Amino acid sequence: MPTHKFIVIDDDSNGHPLDLFCVPKHYEDDLECILVPAGLINDRIERLARDILRDFSHEAIVALCVLKGGYKFFTDLLDKIKTLNRNNEESVPMSVDFIRLKSYVNDASGSKIEVIGGDNLENLCGKNVLVVEDIIDTGKTMTKLLDLLNHVNPKCVKVASLLVKRTPLGIGYRPDYIGFEVPNKFVVGYALDYNEYFRDLNHICVINENGKKKYAVKK
Ligand code: HPA
Ligand code: MG
Repeated sequence: MPTHKFIVIDDDSNGHPLDLFCVPKHYEDDLECILVPAGLINDRIERLARDILRDFSHEAIVALCVLKGGYKFFTDLLDKIKTLNRNNEESVPMSVDFIRLKSYVNDASGSKIEVIGGDNLENLCGKNVLVVEDIIDTGKTMTKLLDLLNHVNPKCVKVASLLVKRTPLGIGYRPDYIGFEVPNKFVVGYALDYNEYFRDLNHICVINENGKKKYAVKK
């Protein structure tokens, strides 16, 4: 399957000024700009839904949401897929599951991840799995998750990530479906967080120094 195209947001993009859109008062001083407005996210997801349904060629899909950051993308993507399913001649049965990933550093072999919550991964044996993630940064976490998933022998595994970050630390991993490729800046909103803050922001924004300081983890 050829890599699907995606929207590239350039490094020199200044995004949109905050005062041209609506953001919660409590975050007004904490953001640099709006990088991806909610309406554009919505329109892009509509197309991702169409591409995904076409590729899975009418075989049942288990959609696997990677919490917490993936929850908005997951619900909006599934809503679009459900709309297509209601209106097309052919439809694709969908089931859902939710996981959280915990990463920890172990002594010798570097960092590992642990899957917490969700049904037993063994249930994915023989299934068509669509992993739904908010952002691919270095790609290390997703590579490890795919490794765990492949151990239970799914029929196929595809990954949809709303965002992919251009970072020099990337290990070259590319998901099957990408909403937007974004500059190497810390982004928040649309369920992406900074220390659990900013999930309650509908646009994807770049956090500023003030926001990083204000919501830093207190030691
Ligand atoms: N924002 C939120 N979460 C993240 C990011 C980001 O830029 N990169 C990796 N996880
Ligand atoms: Mg995530």
